[in-house]
Amino acid sequence: MTTVTAAITALHGYVPEKVLSNAELEKMVDTTDEWITTRTGIKERRIVSKGQAASDIGAEVVRGICEKRGISPEEIDLIIVGTVTADHRFPSAGNMICAKSGAKNAWAFDLSAACSGFLYALTTGTQFIESGRYKKVVVIGVDIMSSIIDYTDRATCIIFGDGGGGVLLEPNHEGYGVKDSIMRNDGSGVDYLLQEVGGSAEPLTEDNIGDRRHFVFQDGKTVFKHAVTKMADVSAEIMEKNNLESDDVAWLVPHQANLRIIDATANRMGLTRDKVMINIEKFGNTTSGTIPLCLWEWESQLKKGDNVVLAAFGGGFTWGAIYLKWAY
Ligand code: UT7
Repeated sequence: MTTVTAAITALHGYVPEKVLSNAELEKMVDTTDEWITTRTGIKERRIVSKGQAASDIGAEVVRGICEKRGISPEEIDLIIVGTVTADHRFPSAGNMICAKSGAKNAWAFDLSAACSGFLYALTTGTQFIESGRYKKVVVIGVDIMSSIIDYTDRATCIIFGDGGGGVLLEPNHEGYGVKDSIMRNDGSGVDYLLQEVGGSAEPLTEDNIGDRRHFVFQDGKTVFKHAVTKMADVSAEIMEKNNLESDDVAWLVPHQANLRIIDATANRMGLTRDKVMINIEKFGNTTSGTIPLCLWEWESQLKKGDNVVLAAFGGGFTWGAIYLKWAY
């Protein structure tokens, strides 16, 4: 019996049309294009228009995937959505994506792992294919960060944007697809990157909303210190575990939080910039959306058999890396 692997057989991405540039942010908070560009690599980000929610982007991703693969949404068995900005606390974005996309025979759930959401979801989706349980699993990473960002806080509003993407996983018998994954979390980061109130620990009140504690808080310097080492470490670890030398890796697909973190990870892996997917300058940090958005943009450059490493670090802390062999 051959081993079944979970191969990506189609993908799609979506970013809203509205652009929020560094020049516009200069008018909103005390910042400069020069500071944002040199400290993060971001020039602009996309922001949804009123009424556009995570499930709208997710449904568009499902539509695009089905069109590219030539399948009906009714053939999808399961949809897993990495997100921290679902349309509502409940029901899940996955539930609404099924309804909006016509994935009538799928069940769905959301998975919360901040910026590592897509990698956690991809690792989870892989299990359902490898076990033989399902034939078509869609894994989505989407976040509408503008819905939880304080546009008077220069520590966060310059970083985040909206968007998302996703992949279709199908069984493969030739060894293509997800080969390995290392997923981590330690809970040590809760005080440094979180949406403090509005959850069960402290429900919303007039007072805490007045204090703006329902928005994202980030102690950027502390998060940066952890991100820069942990994302590089886990990427090096997955290479070592799978006997991959720098020359064996065709692409690094890193979470897009900060260009300096991306560069540190690539350096640690011995990769030059031309092997690294980077679109942070256009889309900023879309949390769970960054990695599928990169794959979407670079899809035409990926070749069958390419060794690809995905890596992320996010709130929690959560972090991880996935090694996969591109299947088409
Ligand atoms: O995606 C999930 C995980 N998140 C991350 O990985 C993000 C990690 N953190 C970062 O990317 C960076 O820490 C930031 C981009 C958020 C901040 O960059 P930094 O180089 O760590 O800046 P800093 O917070 O140390 O601030 C340096 C200086 C400070 O001024 P002083 O004290 O040196 O006078 C800040 O007040 O820059 C100031 N500053 C700003 N200046 C202009 C902070 N934010 C801004 C701003 N514009 N937006």
